[in-house]
Amino acid sequence: GGLITLDPGFKNTGSCESAITFLNGEEGILRYRGYSIEDLAEKASFLEVAYLLIFGELPTQEQLDKFYGDIKDESHVDEEMKKILDGFPKSAHPMGVLSSLTSALIAFNPSSVNVDSEEDMYKAIVKLLAKFPVLVAWTLRKRNSKPLDYGDSSLDYVDNILKMMFKKPNEEYKVNPVVSAALNKLLILHADHEQNCSTSTVRIVGSSHAGLFASISAGISALWGPLHGGANQAVIEMLEGIKEDGGDTKKYMAKAKDKEDPFRLMGFGHRVYKNFDPRAKIIKKSADEVLGDLGVQDPVLDIAKGLEKEALEDDYFVKRKLYPNVDFYSGIIYRALGIPTEMFTVMFALGRLPGWIAQWREMRLKKEPIGRPRQVYTGENLRDFKDIENR
Ligand code: CMC
Repeated sequence: GGLITLDPGFKNTGSCESAITFLNGEEGILRYRGYSIEDLAEKASFLEVAYLLIFGELPTQEQLDKFYGDIKDESHVDEEMKKILDGFPKSAHPMGVLSSLTSALIAFNPSSVNVDSEEDMYKAIVKLLAKFPVLVAWTLRKRNSKPLDYGDSSLDYVDNILKMMFKKPNEEYKVNPVVSAALNKLLILHADHEQNCSTSTVRIVGSSHAGLFASISAGISALWGPLHGGANQAVIEMLEGIKEDGGDTKKYMAKAKDKEDPFRLMGFGHRVYKNFDPRAKIIKKSADEVLGDLGVQDPVLDIAKGLEKEALEDDYFVKRKLYPNVDFYSGIIYRALGIPTEMFTVMFALGRLPGWIAQWREMRLKKEPIGRPRQVYTGENLRDFKDIENR
């Protein structure tokens, strides 16, 4: 073989060409299909952003109506799926449940697997955008021992998700516009982030021509880890821990800097952003606004702000260019919206779904080859086999 370049963690290796998301880590710039994240978070709806990421252009009203109409037509989930959900203990982590349910969907939608034409891809994409929120809502309701329900097609995409998640039996559910706007913004901010760990997973699984749902299920598993999407849960647990320990942020700063201590400041640092994470800026501002509008006071918000201030003035963090990332303040908003901590990463998955889909579709349309990295072998040379009695 030829010379192999070794790059653990792919820190300097591009895996593909992509026209979806532009990210400049030095200057803190993030754009979807050329539109700034600041504009999209302020002015667009999540479903518009999903359309933009997947198909490359912002939809006209007519295109959006058709797209959402197609989604609504596919929003039923097979009743048998409820039995699968029933089989899980209530204590099961929602991310494990969600990735399992996403895989299980394949059995009930076999036509979603071999999709070579753009038309068949569209059908599979619409099915997933329709059914995934139902699975998310069911995952939450199972955890909370609430009856499972379907959506309300009179509502928009995000309001319908809120209703599916939170509607109580025998009670009317009224969407709170503050909650709805906050969730729209969070989902948009999470919608794509070029070749991150879960997206690379989706592309590499999809590159073997495994179906879309199987690729997404693998992406959910990748997102689960605390170094990636799982950080949002880990941040709140960390902040709670600091609060219960008396709120001494200095003590935890010291732990984060101590190389003998495995503790890291969760929600800090990023592989690509080395100046600031533009998503974190928007979310921090939004956290203040949403908590104010909802009249929620959360003592961990003060701890978070204290930690951020100390870190930004600390040599260790400055030298390593560690800044708050998207996950540092997002959990504080999710909490104010009434979403349980264990569900935070599920909400990230819901937001990232259009990005995963867009990247999968791009990869398949470009007929990319199967992903198959090489290695540098460091094991034994040829050895003589020894019979078991002689070992
Ligand atoms: N707390 C303390 N030290 C840190 C942290 C942190 N959060 N992050 C990085 N460092 C140090 C690290 O110890 C290393 O120091 P040294 O050069 O002395 O060995 C240096 O900074 C570089 O870190 P790295 O681990 O080599 O960088 P990476 O690009 O491999 O990892 C990261 C990036 C995001 C995994 C890492 O910063 C981290 O673990 N952060 C905490 C978890 C987190 O918030 N993840 C969410 C990321 S953003 C959203 C998402 O992807 O889901």
